[in-house]
Formats: sequence, structure tokens, C-alpha cells
Amino acid sequence: MLNTLSLQTTSSEKSTVLPPVRIGIIGLGTVGSGTVKLLSRNPLVDVVQIAVKSIDKARSLSDIDVSALLTTDAMAVVNNPNVQIVVELVGGIELARQWISTALNNKKHVVTANKALIATHGAELFALAKANGVALLFEASVAGGIPILMPLKMCLAANKITEIAGILNGTTNYILTRMMEDGWDFQTALTKAQALGFAEADPSSDVDGHDAAYKLAILAKIAFQRQIDVAEIFVEGITAITPADIDYAKRFGYTIRLIGLARWNEERQCPELRVHPMLLKNTHPLANVYNEYNAIWVKGDAVGDTMFYGKGAGEMPTASAVCADVLALVKDIQSNNLTACAGMEVFLAAEKVTPLPISETTNRYYIRLNTKDEAGVLAELGKAFGDEGVSLESFLQLPGQEPETASLMLVTHLAQEKNVQQALKNIVALTVTKSIGCVLRVL
Ligand SMILES: NC(=O)c1ccc[n+]([C@@H]2O[C@H](COP(=O)([O-])OP(=O)(O)OC[C@H]3O[C@@H](n4cnc5c(N)ncnc54)[C@H](OP(=O)(O)O)[C@@H]3O)[C@@H](O)[C@H]2O)c1
Repeated sequence: MLNTLSLQTTSSEKSTVLPPVRIGIIGLGTVGSGTVKLLSRNPLVDVVQIAVKSIDKARSLSDIDVSALLTTDAMAVVNNPNVQIVVELVGGIELARQWISTALNNKKHVVTANKALIATHGAELFALAKANGVALLFEASVAGGIPILMPLKMCLAANKITEIAGILNGTTNYILTRMMEDGWDFQTALTKAQALGFAEADPSSDVDGHDAAYKLAILAKIAFQRQIDVAEIFVEGITAITPADIDYAKRFGYTIRLIGLARWNEERQCPELRVHPMLLKNTHPLANVYNEYNAIWVKGDAVGDTMFYGKGAGEMPTASAVCADVLALVKDIQSNNLTACAGMEVFLAAEKVTPLPISETTNRYYIRLNTKDEAGVLAELGKAFGDEGVSLESFLQLPGQEPETASLMLVTHLAQEKNVQQALKNIVALTVTKSIGCVLRVL
């Protein structure tokens, strides 16, 4: 007989009419620990096995004793005939893919928080789930504790979603907030984020924008009901943002945030999909999302603007989303009626769509240039932009870092990316230009 998790509930509380649903968990790190804590207080479930990498590792699970449940063999969990729902909380792609495929083929429901896997192999895994008559749920994979996938699939189902703009990564939002509020440079803010546990030892996936791209791919698949190749999403990180850019953005009344943008282009019948830093007017709701918080702004043709806000990562917020999926499945198992996976068809039947190339997108731009400080500079720059059809909305001139130089900040009207890039190439060749400091798109 299997040992099961000792619960903080009494045995009489556990004796519901139906027996508890048996859960196997792979991974007992940040999210796994929170999940065990939340499930341990719920009489509808029994955690019967947990796979980890190191059995002897010290765990902070309050007074919950899991020692009798641990194994280092994740395959033992997915092949365990006692397990009805497998919860994958390790991350990475290849091993997780094997575990989840085996679990689905064994007719077990699966819950995962693994954005990289769902973004890259979602279609294959959903096909497997469907073929086996089981569910694959993944609410925690996007924006941690914020309910967004289920609302998008179910509550906004009557809408045509036209745009999603999200702060989808808590690490970069913390870094940009601190740079903005404390005047820190990127490296100082990153070091602080690491010390506080908001950034990994290797932060590259976060600061280079790839983590947000996985989440954007999942959101866009659901919103636009198309297959999307995450590798086709345009991605630019935040490592090049300097305190000077932050300072100048402030002077224009803007905030800088890393934004995941999915916008349906009606004329071209394809989406714009991109992750890059953007300038937001201080009055924009996304500009008021600080530190490690996430938010997703969704526009639907019927509902108008909506915003979902909360903690996008962390032990208990992410576990909250994982456990919501588990409890939805518990209800389905107990009623013998599989409804929790409603909406997953979008990952199956949908045709693939290629995003609009970034060169063909239309944006307003913030551009910082270092130039000579002499008469006629503005006229030359204005002509270079004008020759490519780019018109200027506003500009600010400040003394440059070196003698007889100027720092020019420009904001353009709406212009096509390729025209702006061509204008900048022409501007680099001008004798009045010292360098191009920074180019950011404006939301
Ligand atoms: N952290 C967050 O805030 C957050 C938010 C949203 C989504 N997610 C996603 O949630 C998943 C888990 O993230 P996390 O932050 O909880 O990771 P984590 O803290 O690094 O924990 C990973 C867990 O996996 C276990 N593990 C590693 N290799 C294993 C193997 N071969 N077999 C069995 N167990 C293995 C580790 O065991 P040991 O404990 O023995 O080392 C550890 O318990 C990832 O997909 C991540 O993207 C995380």
C-alpha cells in the first residue's frame, strides 16, 4: 500500500462520498513546494508520489512530511497505476516531453507550468491528450498566479481578440522599475533582483526576452486560434537600456517596460508578434505595473479593454494556478465528465500563421541621437527622416556627454519600421551624427 501525504485535515474531513483523487508530482522546487502545501489542505486530493532530483535535499514544506513519497525516478510517477493526475513542475523540454507523453499515453491527466514545452510542443501533446481521452492543463505556464488562459479561452470566447499587450516577465519588470525609480544601471538592478530571488543565476532567458516570448506564443495561439512558431516571434531584450534612456523617457512623460505584443493585422490577416522594450505614457495602465508584478492587457471587439494583474511568478502564486487546474480535473474525474480541457482544440485544428515581419510593422518611435552641437543639425536630421516618410512629433535637446555635442531625443509619428531603419542608416552617414544612442518603439 502507498504512503500518502499527511494532511493538515482530519480523517473525518477526508471521508467525502467519493475517494480523493490521487496526484503524482514531478518536481518539488519553488512551484512544487507551493503546490504540495496547497494540495495538502484539500480533502479532495491525495498526493501519492513525488519525483525529485536529490532525495536528501532539505525542503521547506512547513510541517508536511513527504519523505515516504519521494523517488528520483520521474518515470515511476507517470507509470504509477495509482496516479490519476500527473503534475509536471520541473521545466525544460526533452525530459518533460517524455514524462508528459508517457503520462498521457497511460491515460493520466496532466497539469504543467512548463511554458517552454507548451509553446514549442503544445500541438503534439494536445493531440496525444485528445487521442487518449485525457486533459493537459497549463494555466500556470503564463503569468504565474494571474488567471489569464481560462478567461481568454472561456470568458472572452465570444470576442474577436484584436490585441494583447503584456508585462509577462517579473524579472525584467523588477529591473526596469528599479532603474526608473532608483536610477540604478541594468547590472545593479539585476544583481539586486538575483539577491531577492526575482532573477535566476543565469538570467538570460528573462532579460533577453525569450521567457516572455514563450508566454506570448501561448497567449497568441489561444487569442487568434492559429498555430504559431515561437521561433518566428521578434525578440529584443532589455540589456541595452541605460539610465540615460530611463531619464530621458521620464522627461517625455514615459515609462519603459518589456512588452509582449500580439496584435491582429486585419489587412494582412496575420498577427504582429513581438517582445521588446517599449515606451508607455505614464498614464497607461501597464506603466503602473511595478516590480515583479505582471499584467496582461487584452482588447476584445465586444468587451473592449480588460486588464489582468497580479504576481506572475513565485511559490504560492504559481501554485495557486497549478492547483486550480488540478481541482478542475478533480471535479471532472468525480463527475466522470471531462470539461476542464475545453478550448484546447485551438492547439489542434488551427492552421499555422506567420507573423508580420517586424520591418513591416507600424509604430511610433523614441530615438536618442548624439550629434555635433552646431547650426543646421536639426534641419539635416529632419530631412533624413522626411526623405523616408517619417515625420517627427516632438524633440528635446540636451547638452551631450562630450564638449560641443548634443543629445537629441525625438519621438516620431506613426511610421513603418523599415522606413525608420533606413532613415537611421542615412543619419549614421551624416557628418553631424556622432552615434545613435537608443531606438525604442512606443506603445
Ligand atoms: N518559479 C516560478 O515562479 C515559476 C512561475 C511560473 C512557471 N514556472 C515553471 O514551473 C516549473 C518549475 O519551476 P521551479 O521554479 O519550481 O523550478 P525549481 O525550483 O528549479 O525546481 C525544479 C524541481 O525539479 C526537480 N528535478 C529536476 N530534475 C529532475 C529530474 N530529472 N527528475 C525529477 N525531478 C527533477 C528538482 O529536484 P530537487 O529539488 O531534488 O533539486 C526540483 O525539485 C518550470 O517549468 C518553470 O518554468 C515557474
